[in-house]
Formats: sequence, structure tokens, C-alpha cells
Amino acid sequence: MTRVERIGAATLYLGNSSELLREVGNIDAVITDPPYEFPTSGGGIFRQNRTNMDRIAAAKLDKGFDTGVLTTAVAQGANSVAVFYHYDQVFQISRWFETSGLERHSGNFWRKTNPMPVANRHYQPELEYYWHGWRKPFGVGGDNLAQKKRVWEGKVGDSDFGHPTEKPLDLMKKIVINASDLGQTVLDPFMGSGTTAVAALAHGRAFVGIEIDPAFFDMACRRIESSVRQGNLFGEAA
Ligand SMILES: C[S@@+](CC[C@H](N)C(=O)[O-])C[C@H]1O[C@@H](n2cnc3c(N)ncnc32)[C@H](O)[C@@H]1O
Repeated sequence: MTRVERIGAATLYLGNSSELLREVGNIDAVITDPPYEFPTSGGGIFRQNRTNMDRIAAAKLDKGFDTGVLTTAVAQGANSVAVFYHYDQVFQISRWFETSGLERHSGNFWRKTNPMPVANRHYQPELEYYWHGWRKPFGVGGDNLAQKKRVWEGKVGDSDFGHPTEKPLDLMKKIVINASDLGQTVLDPFMGSGTTAVAALAHGRAFVGIEIDPAFFDMACRRIESSVRQGNLFGEAA
């Protein structure tokens, strides 16, 4: 039986989003960082410094994801979808957005100020990519130009909560502001340690999260509980 936890304005499901999403009801926006699909071997002389790649491969976070989850989310009301992807997935992601029914699109980036060194025959991995697609009545939120920039700059942090691919909280807050409206329900069907959840709650959104790995699910529950305890009714202070 699926575990469901309700914490503040967040509802969290332990399980496979491809199977569970239809049960979660209406949602307004999807903000997610699904498993990338990319080779995790290699790294040349810097491989010994890239132990995180071993953790990513062990958690199968290099095997991609089912875009059918995004299709289901749009069918359940999402007029705004923001998805991180590895550049090797660019054709899959652009095909999905082309047929998604979403009308407006923006390619957005996180420029890492402390990227991994590179010693193989590839470019330096200083950019993370996320695609934001939307349709009316949604329009990109945020009331200042800094929030609306396509490029966000910041360093790759430590894995503060122990997840191998944790995103910076400030980056996720910017995406929440741009890709959803106050009072709306944000879905992250690949929740990980719950960074999207904490960002969404901090900005007055309700949140629905799905995570398949019980250890990561527990990590997200603890993190969101602590955020709700320390912050306001919605979550941690913005
Ligand atoms: C890239 S991580 C997300 C990390 C997150 N952004 C954070 O800051 O912690 C993707 C997560 O999706 C989970 N996942 C993979 N396949 C899934 C599925 N079918 N349903 C639900 N969760 C899934 C993985 O266990 C992993 O924790």
C-alpha cells in the first residue's frame, strides 16, 4: 500500500509517479528534476574526484524518465511545466514539449560558478538546463527582472540533505515564482530530497510530491517537517 504523508500544505506519496499520478487529483504546475539519461562512466584523470557519479549511478539517476508522467500532469490541469534535463535528452524533451499542448516555451539555465573539471572529450559541464512551457491563462510570474532572467548563477552546493542530485534551494525558489502562481498546487513527480517542496511552501503554494525510493522519501519528509516547523504556516521563511 502506498504511503501518504500530509505535512502543512504538502501531500507526499511514496511510489512510482507513472502509476500514482492519476490518484493525486488536479494540479496547476509541474516543477521537476527527473532522473537524467547520460553516461556516468569516464571522467579521465578527475574520475577519483567524481565519487558523486558513482552515487548517481547506484541510485539509477542516469537512466532517464517516463515523459508520460508530464502528459498525465497536463491532462490533470497543469498549464505550466518546468523540467530539468541533461543535454543528451534534448531531442526527447523538445519532442515532448512540441506535442504537449503548451503554447509558449523558454530554454532556461543554471550557470554553475564552480563546475566540475573535465578531462574527457566533452565540454565543461557548467550549465544545467531546464525547459519551461506554459499556456494561457498562465503567464510567467515574478515582479522583477532578476527573477525573470533565463540564467540563474550559483555554485553547486554540498548535498546538504544527503541526496546525490540536490538542487540549490534559491534556484528552485526562482522557478517556483516564475512557473506557478500564489495559492496554486505545484507537483514534483520526482521529488528527491524535497527541494521543490520547500521552495513551493515558502512561496505560498500547495505541494504534491511523489518519490519512489523509500530512503529519499523519508529524507524529504524530515526536511519538509523541519521547514514547516521553522517557518510560517506554509513552510520555511523565503
Ligand atoms: C534527480 S532526483 C531529484 C532531486 C531533487 N531535485 C532534490 O533537490 O533533491 C530524481 C528523483 O526521482 C526519483 N524517481 C525516479 N523514478 C521515479 C518514479 N518513477 N516515480 C517517482 N520517483 C522517481 C529518484 O529516486 C530521485 O530521488
